[in-house]
Amino acid sequence: MENNLKKVDIIFEVDDKCTPLEVLDKTLKRSADDIILDLIDSGLKGRGGAGFPTGLKWKFTRNESGDVKYVICNADEGEPGTFKDREILDRVPEKIFAGMTICGYVIGAKEGYIYLRGEYNFLLKNLLKKLEDFNNALKKRNIDFRIYFKSGSGAYVCGEESALFESMEGKRGEPRNKPPYPTVAGYNSKPTVINNVETLVYTTMICHMGPEKFKALGTSDSRGSKVFSVSGDTPIPGIYELELGMPLHEFVNEFGDGDTKAVQVGGASGHCVPRKKFNDTIIGFEGIPTGGSMMIFNSSRSMYNVLHDYLEFFTEESCGQCTPCRVGCQQLLKGIEAVKRGERPPAYLDDLKKLTGTMKIAAKCGLGQSVGNPFNSIIDNFREEIIY
Ligand code: NAI
Repeated sequence: MENNLKKVDIIFEVDDKCTPLEVLDKTLKRSADDIILDLIDSGLKGRGGAGFPTGLKWKFTRNESGDVKYVICNADEGEPGTFKDREILDRVPEKIFAGMTICGYVIGAKEGYIYLRGEYNFLLKNLLKKLEDFNNALKKRNIDFRIYFKSGSGAYVCGEESALFESMEGKRGEPRNKPPYPTVAGYNSKPTVINNVETLVYTTMICHMGPEKFKALGTSDSRGSKVFSVSGDTPIPGIYELELGMPLHEFVNEFGDGDTKAVQVGGASGHCVPRKKFNDTIIGFEGIPTGGSMMIFNSSRSMYNVLHDYLEFFTEESCGQCTPCRVGCQQLLKGIEAVKRGERPPAYLDDLKKLTGTMKIAAKCGLGQSVGNPFNSIIDNFREEIIY
C-alpha cells in the first residue's frame, strides 16, 4: 500500500547557526502583538491533547489586567504510553526555556515554572544546570524573567491544569471548576498561560522559522507536525516527529509488525481503533486528536486485559473528589470483571456504556470525562473478547 507518511525534524533539530537564545534575541525585538499574530497565523494548537489555539491562549492572558502573571510549562506527562516530553526535556530544554521567556514577554509575566512529573526527577540534575546557564543569560541581557522547577509527586490527576496549580500552591492536587480558565485565574489565582512542553518548543520554532513553513505542514484543521510516542507491538518503538493529518493505515504500515489488530490513539484516555477502521481514521483534530501516544496491539493481545489495565489505572488515579469519577471508575472495572465471570449478562456492557455517558457530563475534570473513550471503543469493537 502507498505510504506518504512524512517524518519531520523541527522539535529536536539542533541548529548551531541559530540557538534558542538567538531566537529569543531576535523575537524580543518584535512587538508582542506581532508575535501573537504569527502564532495565530501558524495554526498551532496545544500539543497536550486538547488542541486549544496557542496564540489565542497567549492573547487572552495578555489582555488581562494586573501586574502579576505566570507562565507554566506542564511537564507532568502522565498518560500511559506517552513519553515524548521526557525526551524533549532531556534533549532540547533550552527551546522550552526560550518559549516560556517569549511567552513571558508577550503576556507581561516575570516568572515561569516547569511542573515536572515526579517520576522524571532523574532528569533534574541536567535540567537545573542548563536552567542556571539560561537564567544567567537572561540576567546578562537584562530580561526580567526567571524560570523555576517544581516537582510533582506521582499523581496522574496533577497533569490536569487546575489540579496542577493546586499542587503548586501546596494543596491537594484536586481539579477546580472551570471557568474561570487559567488565562483569567490560574496559578495563585492570577492570569496564567499553561502550555505543554512540546507546545512551548513549537512556539520557539515558529518564531524562528516563521508561520508559513509551519503551516505548510499538516492539514487545514491540524497544522504542523507532532511528536509521537510509539510503543507496544512494533519492531521500532520510540519517539517520532510526524506531519499531522496522516491516515492511520500509513502509520500502521510504517510502525506495525504486520499483525496489528488495534491502535490505542492518545494513551489510555484515548480511543482504541480496530483494524477495520485504519483506512478511515485520520490522526489530527479533524479525526482522532492525540497528546502523542500510539500504542500498537497485535493479535496476541487480549483486549479484555488491555481494558482491565486501563480501568485499574483510572480507578487508582481518580482523585476521589467527585462521585461520578470515583464511583464510576470502580463500577466499570467491577462490571467487566462480572461479565467476564458470567455473573452478569453481556447486555450489562450496554448499561456500563450509559454510565460512561453520565461520567462524561458529570465528572469534574478530563479524567472521569474521558474514561468513556477507551471503554466504549474497546467494548464496541472487541465485545466478544470482553464477554468470553
Ligand atoms: P480543555 O479542552 O478543557 O482545555 C484545553 C486548554 O484550553 C486548557 O488549557 C484550557 O484552560 C484552555 N481553554 C479552553 N477553553 C478556554 C477558553 N474559553 N478560554 C481560555 N482558555 C481556554 O481540555 P483539558 O481538560 O485541559 O485537557 C484534556 C485533554 O488532556 C484531553 O484531550 C487529553 O487528550 C489530554 N490529556 C493529556 C495527558 C498528557 O499526559 N499529555 C494526560 C491526560 C489527558
